[in-house]
Amino acid sequence: MKQHIKHHSITVAVVLGVLAIGAGAFVYSGIYNIGADDHHTKPVFAVMQTLRENSIHARSKDIVVPDLNDPQLILKGAGQYAAMCTGCHLKPGMNDSEIRPGLYPQPPNLSQVRVAPKEAFWVIKHGIKMSAMPAWGGSHDDPTMWSMVAFLQKLPDMTPAQYKDMVAKAPADHDMDDEGGHSHGGFADEDAHGAADMQDMQMPAKLESGHSHDAAAAEGHDHEHVEAAPPVEAPLSMEGMKAKAVPAAEAVAQAFHTALQHGDRAAVLALLAPNASISEGGHTQLRDDYANGHLGEDIAFLKDAKITPVSLGSMPMGDAAMVGSESDIQATVKGKLTTLRSRELLNLKKDGKGWKIVSIQWQSAPVSGE
Ligand code: HEC
Repeated sequence: MKQHIKHHSITVAVVLGVLAIGAGAFVYSGIYNIGADDHHTKPVFAVMQTLRENSIHARSKDIVVPDLNDPQLILKGAGQYAAMCTGCHLKPGMNDSEIRPGLYPQPPNLSQVRVAPKEAFWVIKHGIKMSAMPAWGGSHDDPTMWSMVAFLQKLPDMTPAQYKDMVAKAPADHDMDDEGGHSHGGFADEDAHGAADMQDMQMPAKLESGHSHDAAAAEGHDHEHVEAAPPVEAPLSMEGMKAKAVPAAEAVAQAFHTALQHGDRAAVLALLAPNASISEGGHTQLRDDYANGHLGEDIAFLKDAKITPVSLGSMPMGDAAMVGSESDIQATVKGKLTTLRSRELLNLKKDGKGWKIVSIQWQSAPVSGE
């Protein structure tokens, strides 16, 4: 009996020794093909897939999911996704990209596949080892990553037109402002960047050099940040806006315009939510900074201007709404009478009794012929 046990132990030790030597030889020999174009065998792939799924599940199951139906959050996620993810994960109407076919494992097409929120958040934050999926947690805070998750829940139901429209309306990316450019990791989506030809297509008024805000800021508002070559913004799209779709929100927009034109600071600020963001000339400010700075300049600029409304429309988004408007502003800029076509996109949210403006985007450019 004793003999048998001894015998077995020796056999086991020999087998383990041979396996270890074999594994060592395998690792050192260079026999293994590490190329991404040499795919795993089916059983190996199945093992890795199970390992990946169970690892993500175990680590994400206790994550608490915030409200993902907030339109502001979804809109923010649209901008993030367009700027950083489409090269690998595609978008509605896009069948492939230059980088995707060469990636192994292949990134899922997130315009068709919906990933559960907890798991999506965990993967976005931590990435996936030995795959092309980066960990975005080092460069983005949790609320920003939740905005991506919120957007991903809607993405599979979106048409190419809806996608384009939402990306165009997405707020400016603050990280991008800091970098002075729009390309995170080189996979930027042209929708988020207003390619010059697109701008001509969407803007009836022909723009000088395609950089609407540069021209306007330089001529009308002389803001110090213009020198730092602001990133190119997507043109504000008025697609989907219908006159009187949300009359109460439109009324707030009009009250806001009147208050600005009359130089009524208190009325302007009363219509802005406490942490409203104001984007103008490729630069975004929060309400308090705006109140202490550009608001004064805007009021001074509009004081003697002649304003002709061109269009006004709105779009409901759950308990929020967007109001888009265009107007022509005739003013004397550097001693010369100039007409600017101004476009404005407001995001409003219902707040107990009434509507408050939570974000403002402004663009303006000289009307052609000036
Ligand atoms: C360089 C290419 C690349 C970029 C850029 C990239 N991903 Fe990925 N992503 C991948 C790959 C590859 C996988 C799959 C990895 C795997 O299966 O092991 C993946 C997986 C995912 C998954 C998990 C899918 C699932 O079925 O579990 C999510 C969610 C995701 N990515 C979101 C994003 C978001 C959001 C962005 C932009 C912020 C992004 N990715 C940018 C390559 C990329």
